[in-house]
Amino acid sequence: MHAVSSLSGNTRHYLDLEEKYGAHNYHPLPVVLKKGRGVFVWDVDDRRYYDFLSGYSAINQGHCHPRIMEAFLHQAQDLTLTSRAFHNNKLGEFAEFITKFFGYDKVLPMNTGVEAVETGLKLARRWGYQVKGVPADKAKIIVCSNNFHGRTINVISFSTDSDSRRDFGPFNPGYEVIPYNDIPALQAALCDPNVVAFLVEPIQGEAGVVVPNDGYLSTAAAMCREANVLLMADEIQTGLSRTGKMLACDHENVRPDILMLGKALSGGTMPVSAVLADDEIMLTIKPGDHGSTYGGNPLACAVAMTALHVLVDEKMSENSALQGAYLREKLTALNHPAISIVRGKGLFNAIVIEHPNKEAAWDMCMEMKENGLLAKPTHGDRIRFAPPLLISREQINECIDIISTSLAKF
Ligand SMILES: Cc1ncc(COP(=O)(O)O)c(C=O)c1O
Repeated sequence: MHAVSSLSGNTRHYLDLEEKYGAHNYHPLPVVLKKGRGVFVWDVDDRRYYDFLSGYSAINQGHCHPRIMEAFLHQAQDLTLTSRAFHNNKLGEFAEFITKFFGYDKVLPMNTGVEAVETGLKLARRWGYQVKGVPADKAKIIVCSNNFHGRTINVISFSTDSDSRRDFGPFNPGYEVIPYNDIPALQAALCDPNVVAFLVEPIQGEAGVVVPNDGYLSTAAAMCREANVLLMADEIQTGLSRTGKMLACDHENVRPDILMLGKALSGGTMPVSAVLADDEIMLTIKPGDHGSTYGGNPLACAVAMTALHVLVDEKMSENSALQGAYLREKLTALNHPAISIVRGKGLFNAIVIEHPNKEAAWDMCMEMKENGLLAKPTHGDRIRFAPPLLISREQINECIDIISTSLAKF
């Protein structure tokens, strides 16, 4: 089946502009949004939708959260950027706040998620050479197949997604890819004394919300500790209450040696990312070794502190756990033959569509769009369901009705 979508002239106008003047590096659903509040977004024809992607989990706190907006506007009127050539009166406050919040000695602020990952990788290599004593240029970092850590050439050097890599080589050495959720493979890889770190997503987001076995992370953490290898957790998508705890690592009481955060650290207002680690790791980077013009800017610092406060004050982890379990229960109860798998943790969920039509997941998203809910397929057959974390039970019920009506077309 093919969902027939009636695009208004207004929508068509914006799609044409992007098509003509923008690079074709994305394939979005044909909807043009102009406003967002809480769990809702509106298109240019004033149609309202539930947002079930939340900007790839950057908008955990909901669109245009009033407290985050207030912090943003207030700070924007005073000072937005100093660069790190000078100090500003927000960076120190932010650094104290976030390190105490997550329990680390130091923070290194960046902007996008992939910059946080690059920073973490540099820190791991520095630590490997200067603390662990790995011979020059021999450091190796273990990563997992089907990972997603961003789009730079270094980070795609260890991607296993052929679309992400095609004709972008040559790639960087120094990485070993092992299967995700495979403890024996990790055990074998850790035997190499030049391994400095294991980089992992606690739940693989872009791969389609792949949740590893219970105990995977805690066992991996213990094995890394034993092997004198750093555990690097990429919590850029899983962190900040998305999975029902502040960090996905918290489900197994794991404290990574290097923690990378991004996305919802700004509540969806601007790119803000951060790397947290203790002094033994963080102080291997000295002035001039690494940085970013915008990293640690006062606007980002003010917004990030408020974004974290909002998660706690509004009990977003708790709501994520509660409504996520309810959403999965209701999706499972639909018992629809086209849904082969329902999986996730908290409000980080996905369904896998099984249908003779290869475009079925896309068609399903088009159908849900027609019915007032926005989601996006990944890897062809997986649809992520990750609404803002303030969604209520009544709203979930309404969304289940939309999903059920959309499925009826199959
Ligand atoms: C786990 C993970 N790491 C890193 C990134 C890269 O973040 P950014 O797009 O902000 O560079 C993403 C983005 O989706 C992600 O999901």
